[in-house]
Amino acid sequence: MRRFFVIPLTLASTLLIASPSVEEQATLKGNQISNALLQKLGGELKSQMQTGGPMVALHFCSQNALTLTEQIAKESKTSIKRISINNRNPVNKANKVETALLNEWDNLVKNGQPLPAQKLVNVSDSTIMFYKPIVINNEACLKCHGNIEGELAKAVKATYPDDKAIGYKMGDLRGMIAIAIDQD
Ligand code: HEC
Repeated sequence: MRRFFVIPLTLASTLLIASPSVEEQATLKGNQISNALLQKLGGELKSQMQTGGPMVALHFCSQNALTLTEQIAKESKTSIKRISINNRNPVNKANKVETALLNEWDNLVKNGQPLPAQKLVNVSDSTIMFYKPIVINNEACLKCHGNIEGELAKAVKATYPDDKAIGYKMGDLRGMIAIAIDQD
């Protein structure tokens, strides 16, 4: 009796694994790329904080965060942005569509509801947007995005006069990673 069920089920799951849907592929790729980016930026940040302290790390971020992001985009043949409504770097400012999504996620966080792991949007037949929330999940983030003061606050203001990326607490939504994945 058992064999009759086992064989078709095995076949069906093999087929599914062999041909993942476009959405499944984009989810996988988006997660791989965003993990690589978070690891790269997080790793660099950690070692700069450990060896030089927040001022050195701040300088490092201003100088290299975008370049490192570009590098991973190039390697993965995608385009990648880090986006926030309360952006520090003007380049990372959310547009209208991105602001709507971030507000939706922010409301979830404020109501104590879980955030989705990611969101996919078909922008055309050939491009899928992959969005992943970035949450303040490490006390170290607060060194530069919490209630900062003194020399560090001055240095941030000097480089980013319109900085809005302060006053965060643990668990807050900081922004998101947006990756444009082209189908080939
Ligand atoms: C040493 C200071 C420092 C620390 C620590 C730090 N950041 Fe930042 N962060 C910056 C600077 C400077 C920028 C602006 C430059 C850039 O990355 O484009 C920035 C930008 C960002 C951005 C892009 C959006 C924007 O506001 O421009 C995100 C998202 C972000 N940080 C998240 C985090 C998270 C999450 C952590 C903790 C893992 C963290 N940061 C820790 C200094 C810091």
